[in-house]
Amino acid sequence: MTHPNSVVVTDQLESVLGEVISKFPEDKLFLVMDENSQRYCLPLLGNVPSVEKFRHNIIPSGEENKSLSSVEKIWLFLSQNGADRKSLVVNLGGGMVTDLGSFAASTFKRGVEFVNIPTTLLSQVDASVGGKTGFNFNGLKNEIGVINQPLQVIIDTRFLVSIDHENFISGFAEMIKHGLIHSPDHLDELRKYDLDKPDYKELQTLISHSVTIKEYYVEKDPNEKNIRKALNFGHTVGHAFESYSLKKSFPLLHGHAVAFGMLAELYLSGLHCGFPDETLHHLSKWISTVYGNFSISVDDYEALYELMGHDKKNDGKRINFTLLKSVGEVEINCDCTKEQTFESLDYFRTINNA
Ligand SMILES: NC(=O)c1ccc[n+]([C@@H]2O[C@H](COP(=O)([O-])OP(=O)(O)OC[C@H]3O[C@@H](n4cnc5c(N)ncnc54)[C@H](O)[C@@H]3O)[C@@H](O)[C@H]2O)c1
Ligand SMILES: [Zn+2]
Repeated sequence: MTHPNSVVVTDQLESVLGEVISKFPEDKLFLVMDENSQRYCLPLLGNVPSVEKFRHNIIPSGEENKSLSSVEKIWLFLSQNGADRKSLVVNLGGGMVTDLGSFAASTFKRGVEFVNIPTTLLSQVDASVGGKTGFNFNGLKNEIGVINQPLQVIIDTRFLVSIDHENFISGFAEMIKHGLIHSPDHLDELRKYDLDKPDYKELQTLISHSVTIKEYYVEKDPNEKNIRKALNFGHTVGHAFESYSLKKSFPLLHGHAVAFGMLAELYLSGLHCGFPDETLHHLSKWISTVYGNFSISVDDYEALYELMGHDKKNDGKRINFTLLKSVGEVEINCDCTKEQTFESLDYFRTINNA
């Protein structure tokens, strides 16, 4: 089930979704959401033709519910309601719902078609696009999953009105990443965007540009053998920050962890690939103003380094970084020494405390 170019950014959600569901039998329509997307987002589907035919499955909100037991509940719901290979599963929610619902649909009876309607900025620009599905297992994020493309991804910025500021800027970090790895123009338009007074029409254009960048890498390398690794910029250190913050009981949102990770990895890019100093300085100032502080000390370095080594994108024992030669110029599979990595954490602490 490969569906290239299946992402639509639209304010015509009703007609796009109506068109998709008209191709499926009315008794084979299933909707997966969480408590918040049911509350804030389901009302926007009110005018979609046949929407009342959907059978609903509601998962409790929160990353802790991205679990095998939630997948089991979706399988049971599909099974008890007669879902089969002619069915359609629509996932309405943030990345938690789209990852989980896509996995459940991809594995039920060896796979039924699914549509993602992402309702957070993070899921619109990142999680719902690219076909990575799965759930957390044995204390490890996204430990179980498959890569399988949705029939359609429908992105509508009207859903974002109810998102809080922290979740909003969390998604924005992945857009910054897209600009950094691929497009100085995209980065410029993001810098000009007023995060304190979001304009949703302008945001629609920005999302569209950002998604095009993600799709470019996914289409070139769907299974992440080479160039798709560009999308991991900021994530080696970012994932270490994310896991460490969780262990220390002050969990960072994913995008914040990535933003902080990008600060360290921009510095590493300078050491390893000659990323220009002046650009590093400007970018660091901007990113730390948007994302605030995340405090680490020298005593945390070993534990963080250990966590970077656990990142599943690594190749055996090597810590595999994706770095930048300049904005828009990526270098994948970069080996950095432990000393360089620690130096980048020193840099992170300096600008973070500035
Ligand atoms: N598959 C991928 O390629 C990929 C990429 C990045 C992240 N992810 C995954 O995505 C997840 C994070 O995504 P997320 O940040 O969207 O998390 P999320 O789905 O948990 O959503 C964050 C919060 O916002 C709520 N919410 C959702 N839509 C809302 C709306 N319109 N208004 C108000 N509240 C709303 C949710 O209920 C939740 O409480 C993680 O599980 C991560 O692993 C996957
Ligand atoms: Zn990410």
